[in-house]
Amino acid sequence: MTDDSRKVLTNRQGHPVYDNQNQRTVGARGPATLENYQFLEKISHFDRERVPERVVHARGVTAYGYFEAYGAWGDEPIGRFTRAKLFQERGRRTDLAVRFSTVIGGRDSSESARDPRGFAVKFYTEDGNWDLVGNNLAVFFIRDAIKFPDVIHALKPDPVTFEQQPRRIFDFMARTPESMHMLVNLFSPRGIPSDYRHMQGFGVNTYKWVNAEGETVLVKYHWMPKQGVRSMTAEDAANTQAQGLGHATKDLYESIARGEYPEWELLVQMMPDDEHPELDFDPLDDTKTWPEQDFPPKPVGRMVLDRMPENFFAENEQISFGTGVLVDGLDFSDDKMLVGRTFSYSDTQRYRVGPNYLQLPVNQAKHAQVRTNQRDGQMTYHVDGAGAGAGAGEDPSTNYEPSLMGGLREGDRPAHDEQGPEIRGRLTRKRIPRTNDYLQAGQRYQLMERWERDDLVRNLVDALAQCDRPVQERMVWHFLMVDNDLGVRVGDGIGIGPRDVAGLEPLPGQTLTDEDRKRLANLG
Ligand code: HEM
Repeated sequence: MTDDSRKVLTNRQGHPVYDNQNQRTVGARGPATLENYQFLEKISHFDRERVPERVVHARGVTAYGYFEAYGAWGDEPIGRFTRAKLFQERGRRTDLAVRFSTVIGGRDSSESARDPRGFAVKFYTEDGNWDLVGNNLAVFFIRDAIKFPDVIHALKPDPVTFEQQPRRIFDFMARTPESMHMLVNLFSPRGIPSDYRHMQGFGVNTYKWVNAEGETVLVKYHWMPKQGVRSMTAEDAANTQAQGLGHATKDLYESIARGEYPEWELLVQMMPDDEHPELDFDPLDDTKTWPEQDFPPKPVGRMVLDRMPENFFAENEQISFGTGVLVDGLDFSDDKMLVGRTFSYSDTQRYRVGPNYLQLPVNQAKHAQVRTNQRDGQMTYHVDGAGAGAGAGEDPSTNYEPSLMGGLREGDRPAHDEQGPEIRGRLTRKRIPRTNDYLQAGQRYQLMERWERDDLVRNLVDALAQCDRPVQERMVWHFLMVDNDLGVRVGDGIGIGPRDVAGLEPLPGQTLTDEDRKRLANLG
């Protein structure tokens, strides 16, 4: 039945299509002709439908909403610590997009995998975009960006059999003691959040806030779900996975469609901007959390998600986050992961989406004006600065700066363009001095409820049972250093006692604390 009120199909040239079922051929039985524009346009566009999936975090889902500022940090006006406009007045709202994701699986993989979850937020502020690209577990496996390709290769499927293999994962982790804190989290129930609405988010890396006087403080960001935190055991996850691979995406679409808008509070921890020699960890080390009793997280605003994308590809596949995307009043720290991440994100996006990825609607700084002299390249959509609302028609031929005659000018220099402590040092390649790889992992284990510890031990035993003996021994050694009970229980599960590993030397280059050395001496 034909409905004449529907609009007519066209090709991308605007030509109406009167037959979308049959190619043009010589006679009804062919052959087909090569000038068949309508068919060629359709099929060759289809041939290019996919862009490369993200090298990590390929499976994810985007949602939109807003951030509402509280205007104060505890009892103090937020302006004392940051001049970032979005945080200033109570009730001020900023549009945002969030993308939740898993890390290791491909674009159609299971959302009930044991895997960190990505929690990336893009704030469309009046000063341009701010991206806060975090995860749900507060810490990370490594502290130096140079190790990222290796940790990801170990976690991804075997390049020969294409199977994710605990023996490869733990082979890498056994030589990476800084991963213990992350592993204790990942193999606990927190390693499989029940869905995206019931998980925390953390900035993980250390950033800075800058106030109007140019004074800086170190900060860490935390998102706490108003819905509460819920996790799955391996058994829950197997049952969920049997029903389908995308339960968390479905849950988000459905809850927003029902009008149940998920909400998170943003809390910030802060410390003065220096090296803090008094602490037993380095504040720039992303394998550590900052103890809450010493650095209380204070609420600074809330986020509500109330809208889903109209097109999954345009808005979820093409959305592009990066740790370099900051606004005035927010800054980087020297965290060696953060610096590496900041290069990696926009680099991959220029390849994955294309050099003009920032012109796509979902990535545009839609509440700030964009006027650059960057021109051309694949898929240029418009000329920055000549588009609607961005100074239309202003001197389109001066695409350089400086100029006596016209074009764009530099902005006003901020009052404090020099900020933060003075840094001195010689070029080197060294680990940070305060690695302290085991203490916080042990504290995390001790803080778990009994069932969580049982679950952690079970999950580690299941995974380690598939590993080679030298890897098993080294992992038991690490877990004994983390917490004696954890090491003994995991060791029991795979038939390795403390005496079996007492003779192992620390890893090459590993630094141990006095406490670690005591533990080591008592292993036998
Ligand atoms: C995505 C690199 C560490 C969170 C990505 C992507 C790359 C990458 C290349 C794909 C981006 C894209 O295609 O759009 C790195 C490097 C790291 C690192 C080099 C370490 C040096 C981390 C850490 C976190 C994290 C520590 C958590 C705090 C994320 C998230 C995404 C992502 C949430 C997905 C963003 C989205 O939804 O589009 N990362 N990453 N990454 N990364 Fe990292």
